[in-house]
Amino acid sequence: MLRAFFTGLGLLLVLIIAVAGFRGQKSSEPPIEIFPDMDHQPKVKAQVPSEFFADGRGNRLPVPGTVPVGYEMPQSGADPFPDEGKYRTVRFSAGTDYFNTGKFGTKWGTGIPLPVTAQLLQRGRERYTIYCGVCHGASGSGNGVTSQYGLVAIADLHQARLRDMADGEIFNTITHGKNTMLGYGANIPVDDRWAIVAYVRAIQLAGAATLDDVPPDERAKLEALPQP
Ligand code: HEC
Repeated sequence: MLRAFFTGLGLLLVLIIAVAGFRGQKSSEPPIEIFPDMDHQPKVKAQVPSEFFADGRGNRLPVPGTVPVGYEMPQSGADPFPDEGKYRTVRFSAGTDYFNTGKFGTKWGTGIPLPVTAQLLQRGRERYTIYCGVCHGASGSGNGVTSQYGLVAIADLHQARLRDMADGEIFNTITHGKNTMLGYGANIPVDDRWAIVAYVRAIQLAGAATLDDVPPDERAKLEALPQP
């Protein structure tokens, strides 16, 4: 028993020396790699030439017009907010104030911290259509195109709970998402998030409107129309 153990131990030592012992020799052969992992990848390293591209550069130039994140977007055409120097199309959450979080301390706040103008609502409608309509639907009732492709339980923005919800909480849902809805804080600048909140308020108001909400003179005009 003991002899078998020592024979085994001796063989093991010989094996270890045979495999690991002669590492001092120099060799021009590539090393034997038992687990190459991802050591060799067909990729271009930074600042290295490449024959793949006609101009011989490995690094590609950015697409013309590329704007680095955090820089002011050059305005094409007329400034959409000439009167509102405060409005920024590139400004992401930075800070803990109401404007950036929708909260006062630990409580949701309510109110739109930008001048609520027709322009802001137009902007909100445009941004809502781009970012929210695909799921929540143009009218906010949760029947956007994704509902035809298997996305279930998209919130109907006209439910009483969401009509009564503080503006800040809706802002926060846009920023961070809620349950199965992902957040858009990294995609939609703060000002645009408030523009969307204002527009969501407008569609909620429209969804719950009654004839009494129509101003009297407008209502008279409607009633003067030939009734079907
Ligand atoms: C990819 C689909 C999708 C997009 C895009 C999307 N949502 Fe949602 N949203 C959902 C789903 C699904 C829920 C329900 C989440 C839950 O509570 O299970 C939801 C819930 C909500 C709620 C209710 C949150 C609560 O407290 O119950 C609000 C408000 C809302 N979304 C607003 C928006 C706004 C504004 C946008 C655009 C910036 C947007 N959503 C974009 C899918 C989406």
